[in-house]
Amino acid sequence: MNVGVCKETEALEKRVALTPEGCEKLISMGLKVSIESNAGLNSSYSDKLYKNARAEINKREQILSEADIILAVQAPAADDVKKMKKGAIITAFLWPLQNEDYVELLKNAGITGIAMDTIPRISRAQSMDALSSMSNIAGYKAALLGANHLDRYLPMMMTAAGTIPPAKVLVLGAGVAGLQAIATAKRLGAVVEAFDIRPAVKEQVESLGAKFVEVPLEEAAETKGGYAKELSDRNKEKQREVIHEHVRKSDIVITTALIPGKPAPTLITKKMVDDMSAGSVVIDIAAEQGGNCEVTEPGKVIRHNEVVVDGPLNLPSTLAYHASKLYSKNILSLLGLLIKDGKPDLNFEDEIIANATVTHQGEIISPFVKDNS
Ligand code: NAI
Repeated sequence: MNVGVCKETEALEKRVALTPEGCEKLISMGLKVSIESNAGLNSSYSDKLYKNARAEINKREQILSEADIILAVQAPAADDVKKMKKGAIITAFLWPLQNEDYVELLKNAGITGIAMDTIPRISRAQSMDALSSMSNIAGYKAALLGANHLDRYLPMMMTAAGTIPPAKVLVLGAGVAGLQAIATAKRLGAVVEAFDIRPAVKEQVESLGAKFVEVPLEEAAETKGGYAKELSDRNKEKQREVIHEHVRKSDIVITTALIPGKPAPTLITKKMVDDMSAGSVVIDIAAEQGGNCEVTEPGKVIRHNEVVVDGPLNLPSTLAYHASKLYSKNILSLLGLLIKDGKPDLNFEDEIIANATVTHQGEIISPFVKDNS
């Protein structure tokens, strides 16, 4: 069985789907691994390291046409998909809910699409949970970006020239990214508060030494699957009233709130940013889904009055070495389930495979996507 890895082509993408260590594991399972030259260069994995791991360095066209399975971070471009063998597998972040045309493309090309982003968040799948490993990086980096933009210390400083109080950091959305942003800001010495509409999060926030901001909501804000739901207009207003006061007093606000399959909710209005002190900072890592802050310009750092508003895109890619290492481990763990005796063996009775597989043998089989054809 041939496993192929090509250089990622999206503009900000520096990660590689399989590290040399991952190659070694697959080769020891009896698989053949081909890597495009320089596929790992932007994440500090040289061709030499891949050669030492016994991978073959090949041309892109050859890899695509021979692979039984292509491992990627971002969904490979349509031109690449068309060069693949019918029946081959692509494993990548496919976002099937948001990319109906891409799902059609895979279906029509007879490619089996396995989406890393629809692996269920169950205990057995934790080692395959690339959403979590990447969100963890995004949260860490968001706190560092905030510290970097701020023209103040984060920790309390007692110096001969006087005492500096610690900075105040507010984190909105305390999922995987938010919790890591809290932990990182705490390690840097800031005083941290956080808010999330899922009440279950309060305990996790407090266990990291941060204060949970209470907003009395009138409705359950969590689905049975543990994800956030969109709030009613009345509750959105309630949330904004409470959050406004906390935003006004914060030096750094980090926003991470997402609702699966919907644009990011607006948590910070322009008026709130107007009320922030000069020099304070907003890091909006929901920018990819439109942003949680009304003035965010995705992919840009802007100054709104005297407030820095940063809406970074693809933060995991900025820590490409470790992001690739973790992603490669997530993929290897999934392959342990997809491959038996050196061959693909998709058991659709398995909840993980059933949820992650988007297309198979010319049909859309994802439980999340409707086949409109
Ligand atoms: P996410 O990236 O979809 O959303 C980030 C956070 O934003 C969530 O905590 C959400 O509640 C919050 N949010 C949404 N709307 C908001 C609003 N209006 N105001 C404030 N916060 C708002 O979340 P993530 O990190 O992907 O986690 C989603 C769920 O998956 C969580 O329940 C988490 O505990 C669960 N999970 C389970 C795992 C497992 O058991 N293996 C692993 C990782 C996550």
